[in-house]
Amino acid sequence: SRPVRIAPSILSADFSRLGDEVKAIVDAGADYIHVDVMDGHFVPNISFGAPVMKSIRGVTDKVFDVHLMIAPADPYLADFAKAGADIITVHAEAGPHLNRSLQAIRALGKKAGVALNPATPVSAIQHVIDDVDLLLIMSVNPGFGGQSFIPGSIDKIRQAKALIGGRDIDLEVDGGVTADNARAVVAAGANVLVAGSSVYGGNDSTTYAGRIKAIRDA
Ligand code: DX5
Ligand code: ZN
Repeated sequence: SRPVRIAPSILSADFSRLGDEVKAIVDAGADYIHVDVMDGHFVPNISFGAPVMKSIRGVTDKVFDVHLMIAPADPYLADFAKAGADIITVHAEAGPHLNRSLQAIRALGKKAGVALNPATPVSAIQHVIDDVDLLLIMSVNPGFGGQSFIPGSIDKIRQAKALIGGRDIDLEVDGGVTADNARAVVAAGANVLVAGSSVYGGNDSTTYAGRIKAIRDA
């Protein structure tokens, strides 16, 4: 089975110290840096764009896992590729020409991901499965950090795993992942766990390293 990767989301970081916050999670054991881009149109919140991501790219050589919650996505793919993305994920719901978006990402030399909102069935992407390097199952409705994991997501992860079969595709889960549900998420077939508030959030005395370790140990 594929190694489990922990991908802290910088959405929940302190933006006034973003470079230091990225360095801190790398030192704390993060595998990927999850970059949540929101446009206030596809989702009801605005986060940041390619220039901000570019400004932190030099802090680490870890994989930048870019989750585009924007519509349309195609006009911005080259910007994120140039800004240093390693994986670029677009939403299946974000446009009518999903193959085109995925092929454009690969043509830029990056890994192509596709994300599904909670209400979108896995069957929606069965025709593009051979065009993706990563499948992202949203376990909350995207737009905000700190929401609760939707329990039905576990069954959906299983369905996604079945669709992937023996293909070389990462199965990522995003939203409400904590040390309490990480075990069930991985048991269902996921190998990349996004964690925003469960790493950056909280005002207890636990360190970032302690929080990442708690998820990994689970
Ligand atoms: C949700 C984002 C997630 C989110 C994760 O719209 O795509 O990546 O920030 O945050 P938590 O782990 O707090 O749900
Ligand atoms: Zn995300």
